[in-house]
Amino acid sequence: MAKKESKEKLALLGGPKTVVQPQPPYPVIGHEEVNAATEVIMSRQLSDVGTGKFIQRFEKDFARHFGSKHCLSLSSGTSAIHCALFAVGVRPGAEVLTCAHNWISAITAILHAGGTPVFCDVKPGCWHIDPAEIKRKATPNTKAVVVTHLWGMPADMDPILKVCGELGIPVIEDVSHAQGSKYKGKYCGTIGEVGAFSLQGSKAIVAGEGGFLLTNSKRNFQRAQVPGHHGARLSSEMSIKEMKPFAQGGGAWTYRMFPVAAAIAIEQLGRLPALNAARQANFDRLRARLKNVPLIQWPKLHRDSVRGWYGTPANFDASKAPFSRDTFIKACNAEGAGIGGEGYCDYSQIPLFQDMDLYSQMFVPKHANGVEFKPVKLGDLPNYDAIKKSSLRFIIPATESPMLMDQMANSIHKVLANADALVKWEKAPRK
Ligand SMILES: Cc1ncc(COP(=O)(O)O)c(C=O)c1O
Repeated sequence: MAKKESKEKLALLGGPKTVVQPQPPYPVIGHEEVNAATEVIMSRQLSDVGTGKFIQRFEKDFARHFGSKHCLSLSSGTSAIHCALFAVGVRPGAEVLTCAHNWISAITAILHAGGTPVFCDVKPGCWHIDPAEIKRKATPNTKAVVVTHLWGMPADMDPILKVCGELGIPVIEDVSHAQGSKYKGKYCGTIGEVGAFSLQGSKAIVAGEGGFLLTNSKRNFQRAQVPGHHGARLSSEMSIKEMKPFAQGGGAWTYRMFPVAAAIAIEQLGRLPALNAARQANFDRLRARLKNVPLIQWPKLHRDSVRGWYGTPANFDASKAPFSRDTFIKACNAEGAGIGGEGYCDYSQIPLFQDMDLYSQMFVPKHANGVEFKPVKLGDLPNYDAIKKSSLRFIIPATESPMLMDQMANSIHKVLANADALVKWEKAPRK
């Protein structure tokens, strides 16, 4: 960075801000989305039974894009996980393994399916469920594992599939952060039994609100319709004998997709490769400008994998810094860098999953077969605790923004060039 800027006073101490370029508007919306939404509105097909032409086209296009035999449109990512769990056989009294290091839906969707979540730790230094934990925590009541490809980083699926294969437990992928991510040449969401995606407005592609699931199994596809699709669709499509009686109760949760959302999402799907490429270019530029900054360590992707994009994580190496991670974040954010910490709170420790009085008001604490929800003790997920303390999260825009990336990098260089002043600030007593 320019010497002048590095000598300037930190913004935290009253100096000028380094990042003055605004974040580009998000989501990236063009006339295509507007026209598609207008077409649906003017067609007056604002609600169908999940079989109208816009919904059908959505399911066809998304299945084709991801190379999956079936796509089921849904109202959200949460409903997609619920339906995926129902499809693979999660019923009241089942245990489902998941991570606390997650968005809450990969926990609550298990409860919606009548299951009991069992929190697993992540692999050391990693953002994904540890296969060793799956082995340790699986019981004869375990009916599924939810693997979240957190922050767009593909989980190392082979060891997970191996353990789950040996135990006979189906794997559900939560791909809400990872549209377009690939593992060994396959799209995330097409590797396990079922892949569940959110299209909520902050995701790599959006419907506003919406979701879908992918599966290669016709049986899973039909079973997944049961919790939330309309009885009319179930009666016409259902060929699985034991599922047919559900047809009259179809729509119990009403998880159908809004056709306007489907039309927007179809246009967004066409943009996905370009949006991900722009984010990769922005990230490459930022990383190149920070290559001599050892306190920021970028996670290594598994070889043969391609990342998708949501919040972009890194690790803060405290051994290379004279100040704490939180002080570093404060100083960078005063410069306008918009850096976050761990992102999600530790869901294993929130009142809903610690206080059984609260839990019992929403969910069944103990099932007839003896399966019982057990709150996690503080310190029982040590790998997660470690990664939480060292996490950083960057916002990488979906529109090529070289100036913004340079200013973000400059803000970090400025903070490092003023390390002595920052250490002094950190040590100063505060009221
Ligand atoms: C990892 C993950 N899973 C699931 C969901 C749930 O998606 P939705 O908000 O569409 O229900 C989200 C949404 O933020 C998410 O980030």
